[in-house]
Amino acid sequence: MRVPFIDLAAQQAEIAAEVLPAWEQLFATAGFIGGDHVVGFEREYADFIGVDHCVGVANGTDAVELALRAVGVRLGDEVIIPVNTFIATAEAVSRIGAVPVFVDVDPDYLLIDPAAVEDAITTRTRAIVPVHLYGQTAPMDAIIPLAQRHGLVIVEDAAQSQGASSSVGRAGGLGLVAATSFYPGKNLGAAGDAGAVLTDDPAIAEMVRSLSAHGSSVKYVHDRVGMNSRLDAVQAVVLRAKLRRLDTWNVARRAAAVRYAELLANVPDVRVPPVRVGNEDVWHLYVVQVEERDRVLSELGAAGVGVGIHYPTPLHLTGAYTGRGSAGRGSAGRGSAGRDYQQGQFPVAEAAAARILSLPMFPHITAAQQSFVADCLAQVVATVARKEDVGVR
Ligand SMILES: Cc1ncc(COP(=O)(O)O)c(C=O)c1O
Repeated sequence: MRVPFIDLAAQQAEIAAEVLPAWEQLFATAGFIGGDHVVGFEREYADFIGVDHCVGVANGTDAVELALRAVGVRLGDEVIIPVNTFIATAEAVSRIGAVPVFVDVDPDYLLIDPAAVEDAITTRTRAIVPVHLYGQTAPMDAIIPLAQRHGLVIVEDAAQSQGASSSVGRAGGLGLVAATSFYPGKNLGAAGDAGAVLTDDPAIAEMVRSLSAHGSSVKYVHDRVGMNSRLDAVQAVVLRAKLRRLDTWNVARRAAAVRYAELLANVPDVRVPPVRVGNEDVWHLYVVQVEERDRVLSELGAAGVGVGIHYPTPLHLTGAYTGRGSAGRGSAGRGSAGRDYQQGQFPVAEAAAARILSLPMFPHITAAQQSFVADCLAQVVATVARKEDVGVR
């Protein structure tokens, strides 16, 4: 048996009968940009998250940037973000000329640590970007009052949390504004790149629309310098069809997570991911922790199990943010990062980065596939531990 890290074919098969005729229609009428499917999806996704406005954009990175710009984050402002996230969260901050200020994560869930956020606040801090990582919801019960106390804006990065909720509500509807990504592998994935910005505030929604359409609300009237970042109709057709199935698919992911936890409960040296009290996670990723992760990873790959690492390098140690990357002038570096980050500065994220391993997780994964993954993992971990005992390297 081989188990891929992610298998989207079953998703595509479920929606093909709806999507292909709609695509043919778009092709025949050349209705690629805007139109009923885009408007319809924006309404349906806003309702799904429970916000008043959804503005479709070209991808999740643009969505974070547009959300930050729409709430007034400007050149030189500081924006606090967790160091354990995909680099897009930081890129969006840097692209505005604002300063990403990294903070550590908690050791249990690897989510932004509210105490670290509090310590990182300065007079230049403008916003906090909690990232709802791996399908969890960040600790918004602590972040919301903290932001209120300090007069800071919350911009949620909800790229990995479509449908997730917590004791204070659904991820993506908990900040002033939220950004999401519909990259194909996300819980709600397009057939290419797509993203969206979510908010209850009509003025913010309008600003995102304008910024994403060349700074324009009326054709050829450009009130500000914007960009071109559109959700196109081709993607909206797919997203509407998948959104109708998202709850069912998230339930399937939850069942798969329960199954993994049972299968791995008695495997020594494998730490399964806990669920934060009050959270309903949607298991975008299933991240275990093991010793000797790189050896476990390569042996699992050899055994036919697709695995990943999310993420191998905490952002403060990436070339982009140490200034030691090969991108030279393009690198954010110390200048625009504004801080000189060191190894050892974010010990929780750094220790986790050496141990985390993402197992295959997708709605249509079968019990047999999960048993195979768990058996392989148990064997590999035992083998690696034995080699350690006899000092084999
Ligand atoms: C946490 C997070 N933020 C932002 C992004 C950026 O989204 P995109 O790849 O659609 O630009 C992603 C996904 O790739 C992500 O996982």
